[in-house]
Amino acid sequence: MEQTIECLDSLPKAERYQRFLQDYRLLIEGETDVVALLANTAAALHDAFGFFWVGFYVTKDKQWLSLGPFQGPVACTRIKRGRGVCGTAWAEGRTLVVPDVDAFPGHIACSSLSRSEIVVPICLSAERQSQRFFGVLDIDSTRLNDFDDDDRIGLEAVVTVLSKALSPIEH
Ligand code: SME
Repeated sequence: MEQTIECLDSLPKAERYQRFLQDYRLLIEGETDVVALLANTAAALHDAFGFFWVGFYVTKDKQWLSLGPFQGPVACTRIKRGRGVCGTAWAEGRTLVVPDVDAFPGHIACSSLSRSEIVVPICLSAERQSQRFFGVLDIDSTRLNDFDDDDRIGLEAVVTVLSKALSPIEH
């Protein structure tokens, strides 16, 4: 069956995320393969929002994130816990919105074109106490200050849907 994700450029941002979530739930419904879920999530976000770089870093052990499925230019393959924006979002367990990557201490520059970034942690259990950290969703923009609270709320909602699909799967 052909599945497409609408390009949502013309709508206000919060509405774009709402529309995206409707299509996205259908896109991943019933899928139980981790790589398939991550790959289509990255592609869907790229198609709908035209992000410069969108993809995943997944925990390899308790200390490293490893590059997962993505859309955009080639990227660094390993990030240590607590390093860069991705490793810091993991260590702090919260979404980081970085308006200017050059002003973020320890930012890891995979592309010199990247100017702002948002990183959303992915946990596999809803219960705070027993959260199992899976990895992060990382999105880069070539424009300064390109991500705001609408993006944070919208992308956290996408990650909540994704983490429910991932939760029963061993990785
Ligand atoms: N900038 C990230 C590294 C990953 S790339 O942006 C794809 C960081 O500082 O963690």
